[in-house]
Amino acid sequence: MKSMVMEVIKKRWSVRAYRPDPVPEEMLMEILEAARLAPSAHNDQPWHFIVVKDAGLRNALAEACRGQFFVAEAPIVIVGCADLRVARGHIGGFMDSYPVDLAIAMQQLMLVAAELGLGTCWIGAFSENRVKEILHLPPCVRPVAITPLGFPNEERQVRPRKPLSEITSLNVYGNPLK
Ligand SMILES: Cc1cc2nc3c(=O)[nH]c(=O)nc-3n(C[C@H](O)[C@H](O)[C@H](O)COP(=O)(O)O)c2cc1C
Repeated sequence: MKSMVMEVIKKRWSVRAYRPDPVPEEMLMEILEAARLAPSAHNDQPWHFIVVKDAGLRNALAEACRGQFFVAEAPIVIVGCADLRVARGHIGGFMDSYPVDLAIAMQQLMLVAAELGLGTCWIGAFSENRVKEILHLPPCVRPVAITPLGFPNEERQVRPRKPLSEITSLNVYGNPLK
């Protein structure tokens, strides 16, 4: 059994060096479409994706990402935001669903980018207030995740993962699956 999705999952890595070459517009649109089609709680679709191409804004964002300057190397930075006016959903009545919704959409976006030979890197370390200022976000719109988008300028990195036995149980917690 050969999963095509698995092929792409294995192809993705967090790219931290980018070539300045532009991203073809059709690729960008395909990547955004992948995010648009993501599932969300109550189908709220609370997301808004800001495609930042302006070099000055990309530099400002990199600075806001605690000085992770590789972010601005890429010709595009995508900022995945949640609109709290739309994101009313709660998982099980207690947990905000919008960070989960955004995470799924961003991951779909990143996988399609990887399939097309483009690099991304989930950036979670940023100053929310600075990002809001830079992008003129209204108070009800929160940045959840940022990624550079561009052609990688580094060899593929394979980072270790825990073995399946350590992260799974059968039936009840702690009962080995195998
Ligand atoms: C919620 C979250 C926040 C992250 N924040 C950052 C970040 O601020 N900067 C960075 O370089 N990588 C960040 N990463 C990427 C992880 O470091 C990376 O996914 C992990 O080390 C596994 O490596 P891989 O993606 O190459 O497989 C983040 C990933 C996640 C899921």
